[in-house]
Amino acid sequence: MLEGTKILVVDDNPEVINILGDFLGLNGCEIYKATCGKEALEMLEGKDPEIVILDVQLPDLNGITLIDTIKVTKPTTAVIMATGYYDPNFVIDAMKKGASDFLLKPFELDKLMLVMMRVLRERRLLIENENMMQNLSDAKKIEHLNRELQKKIKELTTMYHISNRFNSINIFEDVYEKLVQIVGETLDVRSCGYYVPDGDTNELILYTGHTKDGEPPGWDWQRIGIPADLTGPARRTRKHVVKDNRVYLPLVIQGEPIGFIVTEAKMNGRGPRSLENDAFFLRLIAEKASTQIENRMLYESLFENILHTLRSLIIAITKRDLYTEGHCKRVTGMSLALGECLGVSDYEKDVIKVVCPVHDLGKIGIPDSILLKPSRLSDEEYTIMQSHSVYGEEIMSRFEILAKEARIIRHHHERYDGKGYPDRLAGADIPVCSRIIAVCDAYDAMVTDRPYRKAMGTDEIVAEVTRCSGSQFDPEIVKAFVDLVRDGHEW
Ligand SMILES: [Fe+2]
Repeated sequence: MLEGTKILVVDDNPEVINILGDFLGLNGCEIYKATCGKEALEMLEGKDPEIVILDVQLPDLNGITLIDTIKVTKPTTAVIMATGYYDPNFVIDAMKKGASDFLLKPFELDKLMLVMMRVLRERRLLIENENMMQNLSDAKKIEHLNRELQKKIKELTTMYHISNRFNSINIFEDVYEKLVQIVGETLDVRSCGYYVPDGDTNELILYTGHTKDGEPPGWDWQRIGIPADLTGPARRTRKHVVKDNRVYLPLVIQGEPIGFIVTEAKMNGRGPRSLENDAFFLRLIAEKASTQIENRMLYESLFENILHTLRSLIIAITKRDLYTEGHCKRVTGMSLALGECLGVSDYEKDVIKVVCPVHDLGKIGIPDSILLKPSRLSDEEYTIMQSHSVYGEEIMSRFEILAKEARIIRHHHERYDGKGYPDRLAGADIPVCSRIIAVCDAYDAMVTDRPYRKAMGTDEIVAEVTRCSGSQFDPEIVKAFVDLVRDGHEW
């Protein structure tokens, strides 16, 4: 029953120690002996006994004091006090400090056995209880860590979603509309708007916004005041302000606030902490939007520089051939109007704006003797003149960001029936912008006095363009073009 139990016997009387040691040893216990408090403490540390049989009177320490030390360092070690005289106060004191029992010497060894068995059972229960408490505490810790982990995963997923959505915005989409859309997808808000400051009234005017599930916002959101905390230099700091159930965050570009994101929390009792959490993601969204806007500004300035360079080349051509300058401007205006009628995409409209003014760029590579020849060109000269579309493509594709659009220039003299140049493309294989430019290019040539013939009248031109529908030109484009001319459209 007590087999293998580790017992420390502490008594200043070696005789008592020996008797107890022999008896317990015979019962299979592992015995450690100490005759003073100091020895007892050393044994306690080194041997880790399960039960201590402790004499009250020790030469260097009071047994009661020793209980305190035992219970602090080894709380599950059971202590059985043994004393030669009975003092009830002493007993109460010892039991209060955690002693398991109190034996009066001389005690019967059988009684000691019973006490030890009870004490061991209590100790086992105590350890089990402690283990259970520890497991419970571990489970609670794990649950807490799991909750934290889930929160972090959700946060990272949201951050990834925001980054992903911004990365997928293309150059022709409205960043501010996308920004408001992303806020709606990311945060559980009742409404969100992007506002621009009205310099005259110091108010904010709604540029674009949305409400959750089409619910109206809980305020007049078309025009709102700027919170005092966001006026003056404070608005440059990218700091948000929480006020009246709303979060205000300035969108700062190159140190200047160009607008404000304003969200309104749902009326479900979300506290300020939840709004602060919204603000964390709003700041990330604002940061991503700022980067997009700054990149666009950079791109546009780069683009402007390139266009400036290309326009310089066109000017160089017009110095030689006055017809080309006005021609390019007119063809651009016409092509844009025609593109609008045909419902081309925003991207294609932008391509027309950029490419059309320089579509004859390649003429820079054509010798004066051919470009400026007042009479009709010979076949050989005509072939050289035709190469301007390929030269134009070559020049434009040197600017990497326009490399894709350069093919519009290459194909602006293709014919719908596949008999044009340089690649004899036909029908829808010819880029739509090239097909539009082809009609407008021909129209402008006909409407202008040329060295070898006079300008043609509108009816004559319409008849000629219509005659070439399906052969030289795309019939759908011709139809839209004739409608435009008949409506009295002029360029
Ligand atoms: Fe041309």
